[in-house]
Amino acid sequence: MESNHYSAYRPPLHKLTLSRILKDRHFELALDVGCGVGTSSLALVPYAKRVIGYDPSQAMIEKATPQPAITYTNLIDELPNSCDLLCFFGSLEYINTEALKKYTQKLVKGGQLICCDFEVDYQPILEKIGLEPMRTDYNHSKNLTDYPNHKSFKEHVRQVESTSFNCSLEQLKSLLYAEFENMGKSTKVIDSASFERESYELKAFLYYTGYTKR
Ligand SMILES: C[S@@+](CC[C@H](N)C(=O)[O-])C[C@H]1O[C@@H](n2cnc3c(N)ncnc32)[C@H](O)[C@@H]1O
Repeated sequence: MESNHYSAYRPPLHKLTLSRILKDRHFELALDVGCGVGTSSLALVPYAKRVIGYDPSQAMIEKATPQPAITYTNLIDELPNSCDLLCFFGSLEYINTEALKKYTQKLVKGGQLICCDFEVDYQPILEKIGLEPMRTDYNHSKNLTDYPNHKSFKEHVRQVESTSFNCSLEQLKSLLYAEFENMGKSTKVIDSASFERESYELKAFLYYTGYTKR
């Protein structure tokens, strides 16, 4: 996953998603696994005294936005042994059973685990500028039931919700660059496409699931 386009712009959907799932809850220590450039960690700040943003990619951590309540690291050994909120925002798809076990061991009994993601619908724009639809087998709705150890968790919310957001042409291009690079496709087609507008409304789906550790 490329860090430059990620740090350039992320859809403004993290705060909305967390407000839906965490409501007025408050935590001592949130561990944000796969924090990327910190967008999800920043959105967690209102819900936790301290946030640890962890990402194995050093390039992502180097570009993460500093905030006094957040500590970013790419070193797994530096992670705390216990947290009361464990967040996977757009990262679960990259995490196998073995790795999940390591992260969930850090969650205290009664702690909350949340799996969040969103899917932006680029098809109407791609059609307009004459680009082929994106095809990917990425599972945005991945949650704990996709792993064998899910029985140690009690699910309390599972939701898919539609929303929309506005972005500038430059922001749209950053999103498309990141998506294309993630799929291993050349971004040249984006540079040569003719976009007709300076701003866009994009539709998106929010996916979120919340659990309590038994
Ligand atoms: C789609 S990004 C999400 C970034 C951020 N959470 C957000 O919402 O903006 C997924 C992140 O997962 C990270 N990742 C990949 N494999 C991982 C693993 N095994 N453990 C933790 N994070 C991982 C990637 O480096 C990437 O930064």
